[in-house]
Amino acid sequence: MFNPLQRVPLLLFFLALSTISAAESDTPISRFQNYLRINTAHPNPNYTSPITYLINFANSIPNLHSKVLHLTPTIPLLLLTWPGTSTPSLPSILFNSHLDSVPAEPEKWTHPPFSAHKTSDGRIFARGAQDDKCIGMQYLEAIKTIQSKDPDFKPLRNVHILYVPEEEVGGFDGMGKFVETKEFKELNVGFVMDEGQASTNDEFRVFYADRTPWHMVIKAVGTPGHGSRLYDNTAMENLMKSIEVITKFRESKFDIVKAGLAANSEVISVNPVFLKAGIPSPTGFVMNMQPSEAEAGFDIRMPPTADPQLMRKIIEEQWAPAWRNMTYEITEKGFLRDNMGCPLMTLTSDSNPWWSVFNEAVTRAGGKLSKPEILASTTDARFMRRLGIPTFGFSPMKNTPILLHDHNEFLKDTVYLEGIKVYESIIKSLSSFEGSYEHRCNAVSQQ
Ligand SMILES: *[C@@H]1O[C@H](CO)[C@@H](O)[C@H](O)[C@H]1NC(C)=O
Ligand SMILES: *[C@@H]1O[C@H](CO)[C@@H](O)[C@H](O)[C@H]1NC(C)=O
Ligand SMILES: [Zn+2]
Repeated sequence: MFNPLQRVPLLLFFLALSTISAAESDTPISRFQNYLRINTAHPNPNYTSPITYLINFANSIPNLHSKVLHLTPTIPLLLLTWPGTSTPSLPSILFNSHLDSVPAEPEKWTHPPFSAHKTSDGRIFARGAQDDKCIGMQYLEAIKTIQSKDPDFKPLRNVHILYVPEEEVGGFDGMGKFVETKEFKELNVGFVMDEGQASTNDEFRVFYADRTPWHMVIKAVGTPGHGSRLYDNTAMENLMKSIEVITKFRESKFDIVKAGLAANSEVISVNPVFLKAGIPSPTGFVMNMQPSEAEAGFDIRMPPTADPQLMRKIIEEQWAPAWRNMTYEITEKGFLRDNMGCPLMTLTSDSNPWWSVFNEAVTRAGGKLSKPEILASTTDARFMRRLGIPTFGFSPMKNTPILLHDHNEFLKDTVYLEGIKVYESIIKSLSSFEGSYEHRCNAVSQQ
């Protein structure tokens, strides 16, 4: 007869054994877990620990050179290089990831966010598991595997692996500063792979552009007066007229999305985020006075195909016209055009040979790409695209819930290991590519 209690000592023995071997083992999964255990969350990310960890691992891989650069006295960046045989005639390729992560609220997680706990079904829980410590380690694991499987393989192009700080706080002190340096120019970068996002189905997602946020505040002024009087052109009336016009614009864009003609990230979105008016009183607001000022704030998101000049014209003439006694303020939180005046996007057609090489490499690894997308938010990729360098956002995570910045962020071990195989193919193909790329503008069409 089966007696469950008799099995307990045996079970404990195996549990102890597995704990010991897990602690002692040095596998791609244990190396990923150890990287995840380094807390690099804002507001005080520790950059020296992950850089030390990465250099130690890089030192175990043949032909990888490492270099630490300082963007400010306290903010370092790590650059690893696998030298190519046809450098400098061929520009280099660069694989980017960021060292930092957003904070986590441990009490809302089922496993502590810096424990990298692995469940029996292979899910590894940690802040940064998806965004984006996975790719940071996968790049290195792929190079290690390529060299051990195929010791004769030599990249033609220099392969750079870059670890940047400060991405989660806008990247201005990270990648934004780095692209301005002499060291960056000397890398002669011809193509970049940066982070992407998980996909919930069987296809990998790829991003060719980011949307650019504009923060807009519109303000109306008008003659104040008694709350009982009917008269024209109060501040409230003028602001409400604008809100009506903006609401119609918003609906026209949303209709395109609802009709399935474009994705959310492909149209200009405008959402009201605050309303401010009224004369405060100890119990709330003075109810018998029409105020002399009223304002509203909006979060506008512009795809790279949008025309910023036209948008400004619409705002000036229709949303906050001076003849309606209105003013506006726009804070641009990014750029829509590159240094050549082209829309900030990377072509995903045959006219961009990097696209074909990348796409074929993913297919050769048994993967499939879904329709290229514009990322709804922003990443460091915009700094490279601004220089006219073709850049794709890609994190090979399929059949995975999208958990970046969420509680209980995790990645499955099998998904992580498959991602290494995908990068083996990508790094081999891209670094062997002998063709050239000439940066050209894509046509601008206003959605
Ligand atoms: C980062 O972490 C390491 C290891 O815990 C520690 O020795 C070091 O002082 C930390 N650095 C900073 C700047 O906090
Ligand atoms: C704008 O303000 C001026 C001066 O107070 C006023 O004469 C005019 O009627 C106002 N126009 C509108 C449309 O509010
Ligand atoms: Zn990220």
